[in-house]
Amino acid sequence: MPRHPDPFRAIDRQPDPGQFVQSLEARGRTRSQTRLRRHFLKFVRVKPGSRVLEVGCGTGVVCRDLAQMVGPRGRVVGVDPSRTLIQAARRLAREHGLDRRVRFVAGDGARLRFRDGTFDGALAVTVLLHVSNPQAIVMEMIRVTSPGGVVGVQDQDWGTQALDHPDRALTRRLFEGYTQKIYNDPWSGRTLFGMLRRLGLQHVRLITDVYQDTRLDPWTWSTLERRAAGAVKLGVVSEREARRWLSAIKAQAEAGAFVFTVNFYGAVGLKPT
Ligand SMILES: C[S@@+](CC[C@H](N)C(=O)[O-])C[C@H]1O[C@@H](n2cnc3c(N)ncnc32)[C@H](O)[C@@H]1O
Repeated sequence: MPRHPDPFRAIDRQPDPGQFVQSLEARGRTRSQTRLRRHFLKFVRVKPGSRVLEVGCGTGVVCRDLAQMVGPRGRVVGVDPSRTLIQAARRLAREHGLDRRVRFVAGDGARLRFRDGTFDGALAVTVLLHVSNPQAIVMEMIRVTSPGGVVGVQDQDWGTQALDHPDRALTRRLFEGYTQKIYNDPWSGRTLFGMLRRLGLQHVRLITDVYQDTRLDPWTWSTLERRAAGAVKLGVVSEREARRWLSAIKAQAEAGAFVFTVNFYGAVGLKPT
């Protein structure tokens, strides 16, 4: 079977899985990402002493924040199919002195190996966009959450990305062509609220936040570079067009006029009692 073009579907089968450890940690440190991740976790209302699951935990950026929020009496479990990411997550939690509160387990979010009602809350942050059946994962998250517990999902919505670029036609073609080929639903972020309601959660709330970069942060630059390279590989733009597109972005940043934004949608609901 040909490999799916979205590397996040199978990190361990990529030529350099370690690169994703660096990239997820770099993203986690980005100022705008830190702000919107913590804003979402506050919106979820994670309580001290609670037991929380994060599905698709990657290197544990969100789990480490959760471990601080649940405090010494709470417990956090991160699940991810990638063994490379799970190993990195364990090491990083140890380095941050949080390994007594957070545990990492390799596994698929659509087949969680936990009993019904094990957790007070279950979250998935920037995961559902990457999977073939997001609903199956959310159903599992609901199953392992106790009645009255909280289920929360947050994702970027690539239909909302905006870049100030002198060649708007090329920017639109590159962004739309690339995201349509790589994701099941590039506009998935805005669908999360409706999904939680359809799956029977109660008191579903939505938070909309924006990733904003005006300095061409190294993480934004590597994302745009990967996007351009991916668009060439997928036949969306030519190599020459991709080079021209990236040079104009650099020039824009050097002129102090770089602007890139993308909306993040977070939906949170309660499991009926
Ligand atoms: C963009 S990363 C997000 C990581 C982390 N939540 C964060 O915000 O830093 C997406 C993660 O989803 C994981 N993933 C992919 N397929 C999955 C599945 N079927 N079940 C659970 N996680 C999955 C990937 O391995 C990757 O770690």
